[in-house]
Amino acid sequence: MPQTPSEDPGHPGPLRRLSLAELRRRTSMKWRTYPPDVLPLWVAEMDVPLAAPVVRAITEAVACGDTGYPAGTEYASALSGFARERWGWDGIAVERTTIVPDVMLGVVEVLKLVTRAGDPVVVNCPVYPPFYPFVSHMDRRVVEAPLGPDLRIDPVALEAAFRRAAAGGGRPAFLLCSPHNPTGTVHSAEELAGVAALAARYGVRVVADEIHAPLVTRDTAFVPYLSVPGAADGLSLMSASKAWNLAGIKAALAVAGPAAAEDLARMPEEVGHGPSHVGVLAHTAALREGGGWLDALLADVDDNRRLLAALLAEQLPAVRYRPAAGTFLAWLDCRPLGLGDNPAEVFLARGRVALSPGPDFGTGGAGHVRLNLATSPEVLTEAVRRMAAAVA
Ligand SMILES: Cc1ncc(COP(=O)(O)O)c(C=O)c1O
Repeated sequence: MPQTPSEDPGHPGPLRRLSLAELRRRTSMKWRTYPPDVLPLWVAEMDVPLAAPVVRAITEAVACGDTGYPAGTEYASALSGFARERWGWDGIAVERTTIVPDVMLGVVEVLKLVTRAGDPVVVNCPVYPPFYPFVSHMDRRVVEAPLGPDLRIDPVALEAAFRRAAAGGGRPAFLLCSPHNPTGTVHSAEELAGVAALAARYGVRVVADEIHAPLVTRDTAFVPYLSVPGAADGLSLMSASKAWNLAGIKAALAVAGPAAAEDLARMPEEVGHGPSHVGVLAHTAALREGGGWLDALLADVDDNRRLLAALLAEQLPAVRYRPAAGTFLAWLDCRPLGLGDNPAEVFLARGRVALSPGPDFGTGGAGHVRLNLATSPEVLTEAVRRMAAAVA
C-alpha cells in the first residue's frame, strides 16, 4: 500500500501536519467550547489529519452510497487480527463479540448484563469522569478504589473496595480503565492477574474499558485484561475511536472472555443498531491498514511527553508530571503551585489554556489538571508558556 506523508519517515508525523488556523475550522467539542483565544488541550480529540486508509474507507462508502445499516463481523475480525499482530494475543473470538454504538454506551450495556439496579461498580479514581454519571444514571453505585501514590492500581485499596462492594450481597462489578485515563498508566500482566484473582475471591465481574489500548509506546507491552489467567469471565470494550480520532464516527466492540460468552449473548439486539455503518467501515480500515499511521502518531506523542517534561522543568518546576507509556494524556499534579482544588480554572482564566479539571476525575483529582498531548509541539510549547505566565 502506498504510504501517506504521515507514515513516511521523511515527512512530519500526524501531530505536526495541521496549523492552528486549519484546526480552528473544526466544529467539534474541542474547538467550539471555548472562544478562539483559548488553546484547547482538554477533551480527548487529537489534532491530526485522518489516516489515509480511514479517509479512503469513508469516501468510498459515501461515493457509492454505502450508508445503510451495519452488517457482518469484519470489525471484530479486524480487531482480532490487530490484537494478534500488535499484542501477540489470539484471544478475540469473533463469535464472542458484539458491535455497540461507542465505548461508554457499551460499558453501560455490558454492566446491565452482569449487575442489577443498586449494585456497586468499583472504579480506580482518579478516573475518566464519565464513569461516574454513566454508572449512576443506570442506577448502579460507584465505589472508589484510589490508585496508589505511584498512580498504579493499589491492590490493598482494590481489595478493600471489593470487600465493601461484595458485602451488600448484590452483583458487584469492577470497571477497569486500561490503559488508565488520566494517568496513562499501562497495567502489567502481574497487576492484571492480581485483579483477576481478587475479583474471583470476591465474586466481582470485571468490565475493562480498553479504548486506549492501541495508544501504548512500542517498547511497552499492552496486556489485554482477557489475556491474563483467571480473567475468563471478564468482558472488554474496545474501539479504534481514540487511537485514530474517530469519536465522531461511532462504533465499538464488546468482547467476552470464554466464561462470559453467555452473558454477552443476552445483549439486546437493538444495541447493535446503534453503531454507524460508516463508522464500522472506518474503524475496520484503521485496525487493518492504519498501523503505520499509528506508529507515526505514537512517535509524535512520545516526543511531546519529553517536550512537556522539559518545558515544565524549565518554566513550572513545581508541577509534578510522571510521563507514562499509555494514552496521549498527561496528568499534572499542580498542588505545589497552591492554586486550590481546581487549577484548570486559573490556567483558563489567566492563561487562556483549556485543560481538564482534576476534581472531575473523582477522589485524588483535586489540585490536578489533565493535559491533552495530541497536539503540535508548537501548541504545546505555547500552552506551557501561557500556563507559566498565568501563575508568575
Ligand atoms: C477511558 C475512556 N473510555 C471511553 C471514552 C469515550 O469513548 P466513546 O466515545 O467510544 O464512548 C473515552 C474518551 O476519551 C475514554 O478516555
